[in-house]
Amino acid sequence: MLTGNAMVDRAHLERARNVVVDAATDADALRRWALSARGAPTLVQLAHPGRQVTRYVQPHPVAPSPGPALALAGGLYAAPRGLTVAEIGEVRRRFVDAAVRVVDAGFPGIELHAAHGYLLSSFLDPQTNRRGDDYGGDLDGRARLLLEIVRDLRAALPASALAVKVDARDGAERELADLGIRLQDAGIDLIEVSGGNYERPVMTGFDEDGQEVASEHESPFWNAAAELSAAVEVPVMLTGGFRTRSEVDRALAAGVCDMVGVGRPLAVRPSLAGRFVRGEVEELDRPAPRLGGPAVVRRPLAAAANAGWHRVQITRTAGGRSPLLRLPALAAAIDYTAVDAAQAAVERRARLKLAAAAPARGAGAG
Ligand SMILES: Cc1cc2nc3c(=O)[nH]c(=O)nc-3n(C[C@H](O)[C@H](O)[C@H](O)COP(=O)(O)O)c2cc1C
Repeated sequence: MLTGNAMVDRAHLERARNVVVDAATDADALRRWALSARGAPTLVQLAHPGRQVTRYVQPHPVAPSPGPALALAGGLYAAPRGLTVAEIGEVRRRFVDAAVRVVDAGFPGIELHAAHGYLLSSFLDPQTNRRGDDYGGDLDGRARLLLEIVRDLRAALPASALAVKVDARDGAERELADLGIRLQDAGIDLIEVSGGNYERPVMTGFDEDGQEVASEHESPFWNAAAELSAAVEVPVMLTGGFRTRSEVDRALAAGVCDMVGVGRPLAVRPSLAGRFVRGEVEELDRPAPRLGGPAVVRRPLAAAANAGWHRVQITRTAGGRSPLLRLPALAAAIDYTAVDAAQAAVERRARLKLAAAAPARGAGAG
């Protein structure tokens, strides 16, 4: 199992009420979280949002290079500034610090979130990383931060499971395979392939116009995963779009990947997970309603409606309640954007106070 993304810096949340793992985190709460997996091997996903955060959550976002703001829902996102080399070192240290805390709490390992347009992903992407120093330029430069973190983690946690989630970008399949080889050499145990970002939410099955993406396979990242799998020996996991057991079997039999990740359907109906794995259920459904209405509403909100609808269901099913299948798509979109922004704005001051009171300890890279 993989958890949702836990932040490594409470001054940089991705959404209101994210889980944060830093020096101010209650170690007992982390231990209780680890126990709640009831023995199922669970990796905690660690993340830094970078520029993909609304201005209500983070009015001063950071990125590899300065600006522009996300071209989405005008005004909701602030233009990021570029990180200094010293700040990059701080980010690196925070990922290692958080991983050590997670493992100390009893989890068998972590996954680095280097996909979906968040900070580590935006370092890898030449569209958002236009740095002229050692952390930009060719693949070696753009991957430098991620590889430094992986090497630090391997040194700090020699026996723990280390996974990384990376993006398949159109036309960059060879580069993904080259990145995979570098990650393998740096000591990673599992590479999860996904793709897309807030501006182009391919991982949700939607394009920038709010239309469903047509794809030859259930997963739009099939070809990229196949090329990566051919290049590396570490297991590759492919996530995004899988809904039928036969397609899962095809992907595994063809050597496209060694594992398949399934998100939304099982978040709504967690009881189906075991039955799907055992082959007792052939097809998982897509219960989320589509957002209708004119294009000016649909375009900016389709992905938020889909993510928001599932977020509500995760909250319910994780709490032992049944999913609320009649939840309208528009209500989910508003909850995901406006309600989150309001919560974040109200809670921001208290959060920053806590962060200031407990500076992160030095772990791994100095
Ligand atoms: C509500 C919601 C929250 C998500 N949170 C995360 C996350 O924290 N980390 C992550 O890597 N992916 C996250 N995802 C993306 C999923 O992991 C997955 O890549 C995506 O849903 C596509 O897979 P699926 O078609 O099986 O759902 C999230 C998706 C949804 C709908």
